[in-house]
Amino acid sequence: MKAVVMKEVGGTDVMELVDCAEPVAQPGHVVVEIAAAGVNFMDIGVRQGMAWTEIPNPKVLGVEGAGRAIAVGDGVDELEVGDRVAWAYAPGSYAQRHSIPAGSLVKIPDAIDDATAASVMMQGLTASHFATDFYPVQAGDIALVHAAAGGVGLLLTQIIRLKGGRVIGRVSSEDKVACARKAGAEHVIVDAEGQFADDVLRVTGGEGVNVVYDGSGPKTFKGSIDALRRSGTFCWYGPVLGGPGPLDIMSLPKSIKIGYATFMDHVHTHALLLARTKQLFEWIEDGSITVTTGGVYPLADAARAHADMASRATTGKLLLIP
Ligand SMILES: NC(=O)c1ccc[n+]([C@@H]2O[C@H](COP(=O)([O-])OP(=O)(O)OC[C@H]3O[C@@H](n4cnc5c(N)ncnc54)[C@H](OP(=O)(O)O)[C@@H]3O)[C@@H](O)[C@H]2O)c1
Repeated sequence: MKAVVMKEVGGTDVMELVDCAEPVAQPGHVVVEIAAAGVNFMDIGVRQGMAWTEIPNPKVLGVEGAGRAIAVGDGVDELEVGDRVAWAYAPGSYAQRHSIPAGSLVKIPDAIDDATAASVMMQGLTASHFATDFYPVQAGDIALVHAAAGGVGLLLTQIIRLKGGRVIGRVSSEDKVACARKAGAEHVIVDAEGQFADDVLRVTGGEGVNVVYDGSGPKTFKGSIDALRRSGTFCWYGPVLGGPGPLDIMSLPKSIKIGYATFMDHVHTHALLLARTKQLFEWIEDGSITVTTGGVYPLADAARAHADMASRATTGKLLLIP
């Protein structure tokens, strides 16, 4: 079977479509024929050597996808061959087939297609965590969402709106404004240089926002603090683009709270994975949130998907079709 590996740490040139051994269903695992694999910004970080350093190269990239169970290992009771399943974190998902621990899998409801399910497992669960557990958005709250037309950004904007919150989005180019607005951002700031705080303060009558969601690297960090109101919450989540460096806690103004949110804290048990995805799928089924597909690529073109995402030109979800 074919899979996309990274031969070594580096740029997109280290990615290669290769032949791999067919996976077999080990005890507790399910082999899935992958219909769609999600591309996530973290995959770029893995390729650049920021994570998974304990896994030797060459290794298959990708963590997310959806497809159909084709073999079930011993000890798996809740799934059978033919079930449509999706998963959020199974390293090695840029492949035609993959053996995945049953505990990482959820069944996909009939009303949801494979591409849609694959699109929300990482970015949707992340967005749901940010707006519920990390900072439970209240009706009337105003949030600043960075990279508002991206995969996390579009879903987060919709979930905040669903909870009665209002959204100011920040995107890097005019091309993305309409997309962020369509998701529900009532004001969209175009900025790629970290110069957005004054705009946020102006739009909020000088008050600032209740919460800022920032995974956009060191350039936006100071502006995000400046854009917060007193006792506001800073949800920081961008390990790939990097943090601000060491922070002096006594330098933090306005009684703000800062934390590093990771979706793993949202779904750290199988029961939570089932509950959180059930909620996401219900929101999709009843039309509360919609998924924007920004690009569909053949598996062989995974490197192009990475290059497009890193170019800041993409909106919504990028998918690979094996
Ligand atoms: N903590 C967690 O659990 C978790 C989970 C999922 C994702 N994340 C993080 O969430 C962020 C978004 O991830 P995603 O998968 O949804 O990707 P995405 O938002 O679809 O794409 C990344 C976005 O980041 C911005 N960007 C790209 N390169 C950049 C650069 N060099 N400098 C500044 N901004 C750049 C671009 O938006 P603009 O050009 O409009 O600014 C781009 O659209 C990433 O930082 C990712 O690491 C964290």
